[in-house]
Amino acid sequence: MNVLVINGSPNKEKSATLTLTKAFLHGMNETAKFINTTDLQINPCRACYACWMATGGHCVQKDDAISVLEMIRAADLVIWSIPVYCYSAPAQCKGLMDRTLCFNQPQMYIGKDDRAHHYGYEDGTKKTVLITSGGLPDVTGNFDGLVFQLKHMFGPNTAAICCAEGALLMQQDTAEIVRPYLNTVERAGAEYKEGGRISPKTQEILNTPFIPREDYIRNVNNLFGKMKSC
Ligand SMILES: Cc1cc2nc3c(=O)[nH]c(=O)nc-3n(C[C@H](O)[C@H](O)[C@H](O)COP(=O)(O)O)c2cc1C
Repeated sequence: MNVLVINGSPNKEKSATLTLTKAFLHGMNETAKFINTTDLQINPCRACYACWMATGGHCVQKDDAISVLEMIRAADLVIWSIPVYCYSAPAQCKGLMDRTLCFNQPQMYIGKDDRAHHYGYEDGTKKTVLITSGGLPDVTGNFDGLVFQLKHMFGPNTAAICCAEGALLMQQDTAEIVRPYLNTVERAGAEYKEGGRISPKTQEILNTPFIPREDYIRNVNNLFGKMKSC
């Protein structure tokens, strides 16, 4: 399977989110091509609409996004590995998301969800997974923006893993706390490979923070308190 991982974290290979993505791939028993959006020159969309009006779906800009867009076209599965930034995606990654306009057509239709959509990948023909982590302890209300975006851009079957309490993914002494979650992410990968979806039971575990949020807040406040006193 041709799997493309779009790593939207400025932490690149040290990304906490990427730890989850690698566990998911392990569960799928697949390798992937990885790109780091922060290594690339990705210009913002110019809203020229040439991809809609003139070029049959190809962007006219000359930058690194062109080859990434071709990689997305060629991929059997695209995994967006994105830390949540201000309830959305980091700027460089959002720039790439905007550039996927070229996969759509100007013409619209009313979907089964009773919403208007553009013809193109909004119909779910590009298999997509969102894997994201955030530093806040809540899943509800924290990842809604990102999940909404990806599910509307690439269809409602887009699977999403939203990991709250991301600070615990990065600490040396929390490996034992995090391990069961990573095992569940692996299981999600296996389920996705098998049936194209994550089971509700697995999803429920993935939506559960590692530790009670009061404990997490104490942990993080303590950590930042120490940093300030250095
Ligand atoms: C600019 C910025 C904005 C952030 N916004 C959020 C946010 O809205 N919600 C959240 O839970 N965490 C937020 N975070 C924390 C990161 O999402 C979190 O540390 C994440 O686990 C980092 O993953 P990474 O190592 O893959 O980059 C933000 C971090 C930065 C630097």
